[in-house]
Amino acid sequence: MYNMEEKIKQLQNKSEVTILAIESSCDETSIAVVKNGREVLSNVIASQIDIHTRFGGVVPEVASRNHTMCISNVLKESLEQAHLTLDDIDAIAVTYGAGLIGALLVGVSFAKALAYATQKPLIAVNHIRGHVSANYITYKDLEPPFVCLIVSGGHSAIVKVEDYTHFTLIGTTQDDAIGEATDKVARVMGLGYPGGPKVDKLAKEGNNTIKFVTSNAYKDSYNFSYSGLKTAVINYIHKLQQKGEELNIPDICCSFQHEAIDGLVEKVICACKEHKINKVAIAGGVSANSYLREQITKLAEENNITAYIPEMRYCTDNAAMIGSMAYYNLLNNECIADLDLNAVPNIPL
Ligand code: KG4
Ligand code: ZN
Repeated sequence: MYNMEEKIKQLQNKSEVTILAIESSCDETSIAVVKNGREVLSNVIASQIDIHTRFGGVVPEVASRNHTMCISNVLKESLEQAHLTLDDIDAIAVTYGAGLIGALLVGVSFAKALAYATQKPLIAVNHIRGHVSANYITYKDLEPPFVCLIVSGGHSAIVKVEDYTHFTLIGTTQDDAIGEATDKVARVMGLGYPGGPKVDKLAKEGNNTIKFVTSNAYKDSYNFSYSGLKTAVINYIHKLQQKGEELNIPDICCSFQHEAIDGLVEKVICACKEHKINKVAIAGGVSANSYLREQITKLAEENNITAYIPEMRYCTDNAAMIGSMAYYNLLNNECIADLDLNAVPNIPL
C-alpha cells in the first residue's frame, strides 16, 4: 500500500518542508537535504571524473556501476552532514531524466525503495529544470518571472521561467549543446575530460586572434548552433597539424569561447528586452564558465537588467538543485510520482 494523497496535502500546508534529493543522471552521485527549496542542509557529491578521465569521456556502463557502489554511502553522509535521520525527512525527490538511462535508473530505483520503505512521498524532477533552481539557492529572494540561459553538457536553451513550474522555450540549439561542443574541441586539442574547465582556464592565457568561420543561419532568431563552430575549430587544428605548425592552444580556447558565448549572451539580453523582463539567470555546467559569467554580468548591467549567477558548486550536477525544484513541484502538486516511476533519457524541458 503506497497512497500518498493525504501526506502530500499535509506537506503543502506545512511551514517547513525538508526534502531528501537524489541525482545520478551522469557521472556524479549526489544526495542533498534541502529545506523549503532554498536552504541547503547538506549536498554530498561523489564525482566520477577521475574514473572517466582515462577513457576521455563518460562511459555509461562504468557510470552506472559506480553509482550503485557509492549511493548508500552518499546517503549516509548526506544525512550525517545535515544532522538528521530519515525520520526528519518529509519527501524523497529524484532526477528521472534527462540523462544516461543506466545512471538514472540507479537513482530512481534507490529513491523508490527509500520512499516505499519510509512511506514518504516521491517527487520526480526534470534535471534541466533542476539546473534553473540552482539560482533559488544562491539568491533567496529570486522569484519568477525571469529569463534563463540553460547551458550544460546535453542542453542549451533560452527560456522564460513564467513561474516555478512553468517554462516557455524562447530559443534552443539546433544541433550540439555548447558543453558537448566544448568537450569535443578540448578532446581534439588533447586537453582531456571534461574539457570545459580546461578551455576556460587556458582561454585566460590567450587572445581572441582567430576568426572561426561559422554559418549566419540563426542570426535573426533566438535559436543557435554549435556544430558548425565545433567543426571549424577541429578543421583549423587539423590543418595546422598537417602543415606541422605549432598550435597556440590558449588563443584557440579564447577565440572559441568568444565565438561560442558573445552571440549567445546578446540573444539572451535581446530576449529579456523583447519579453520586458529585467531579470536574467544562467544555469547548467557551462554557467561555471568565467567568460560567460563576466559577459552576462557586463551586458546585463549595460541594459539595466539584474543578472543572477549561481554559486560555482551549484552550477555543475548536484542534488541540492534537485531538492529545490522538487519543493516547488510539491507545492504546485506537479510531478508527484508513484512507485511505477521510470527513468527517461530524453525529456523535454
Ligand atoms: O550540467 P552539467 O554538469 O552536466 C549536464 O547536465 O550535462 O554540465 C557539464 C558540462 C560539460 O560539458 C563541462 O565541460 C561543462 O559543463 N563545464 C564547463 C565549465 N565547467 C563545466 N564549460 C565551460 N567552462 C567551465 N568552467
Ligand atoms: Zn546537468
